[in-house]
Amino acid sequence: LATSEFLTHLPKCEHHVHLEGTLEPSLLFQLAHRNNIQLPDDFPKSVEALQYRYQNFKDLQDFLNLYYVGMSVLITEQDFEDLAWAYLEKSSKQGLKHVEAFFDPQGHVDRGIDLELVIGGFRKALVRAEKELGMSTKLIMCLLRHLPPSEGLATIKSFAPYYKKGWIHGMGLDSSEVEFPPELFTSCYQYARSSLPKEVHYTAHAGEEAGSDYVRRSLKCLGISRIDHGVHSADDPELMKQLAERDIMLTVCPLSNKRLQVVDDVSQVPIRKFLEYGVPFSINSDDPAYFGGYILDNYLAVQEAFKLNVDEWIKIAKNSVRGSWVSEKRKKDLY
Ligand code: HPA
Ligand code: ZN
Repeated sequence: LATSEFLTHLPKCEHHVHLEGTLEPSLLFQLAHRNNIQLPDDFPKSVEALQYRYQNFKDLQDFLNLYYVGMSVLITEQDFEDLAWAYLEKSSKQGLKHVEAFFDPQGHVDRGIDLELVIGGFRKALVRAEKELGMSTKLIMCLLRHLPPSEGLATIKSFAPYYKKGWIHGMGLDSSEVEFPPELFTSCYQYARSSLPKEVHYTAHAGEEAGSDYVRRSLKCLGISRIDHGVHSADDPELMKQLAERDIMLTVCPLSNKRLQVVDDVSQVPIRKFLEYGVPFSINSDDPAYFGGYILDNYLAVQEAFKLNVDEWIKIAKNSVRGSWVSEKRKKDLY
């Protein structure tokens, strides 16, 4: 049996995808034209040149610099809807059944875009995917950690009505990691947990470029139930035991780790160690337009590197359903 066929049909859940990171070069140039946006002088001039640039990120910051320029072409509600829909349609063909998608509101509001239209556009695409593609979907708002925590707090306050309506289901933390340790955001998470509906879930990027201590410290000070990336947890056996015992899922992004030079090769992502320790993890695309692959491409890259057997894949798929922020009824459908 062709493993690629098995992996294509395996029902998949994605817990780590930034909707702004699904902006394909072709759509980026199309929207720049549609909205009359002048890209910086040193920005690659063609789809091919941009794709080539994406294959040569030095590190997370080098990627983020381009990612924030990319965002600047998103202006109207239709842009946000088109962006998310393109991702959902493509991923559905790769066997995606459930998605919990991140977005970075501060990256839009700070350049004068109305929050209502960011959420509105994303929501239209997600609701359409539920109807037409049979997917379940959730939205997670992320705070940008390179901005002051006081601005994070104001962002949480501006989101309160959307959390109450049930349009936003989680809160996360992303952007430049090493210089902005988790403790900076203790009060943001504390405020969110005390003021938002109790059904809201909490996660944070940790242990992508920073070491396992950021994972440990994020768990300690942010009150989160999941870790995004977390690959460096594998350097700390005690932490690995804690993750397994507390059933903290890591949302691992193999092709992202390779493109951002977190690892030299997908085979260095500690998949076997996670399996050995019983640390639950899911496999995700992170910023698929920038890192050369959507959800199935990430599954295939793991398979090529690790040659997992069917039982191991079923275990991974089941853990990924179990760690999803959905009802028990929906989980049964997804298993
Ligand atoms: N890490 C941190 N911030 C991000 C990422 C990431 O992988 N993708 C988009 N924002
Ligand atoms: Zn990410």
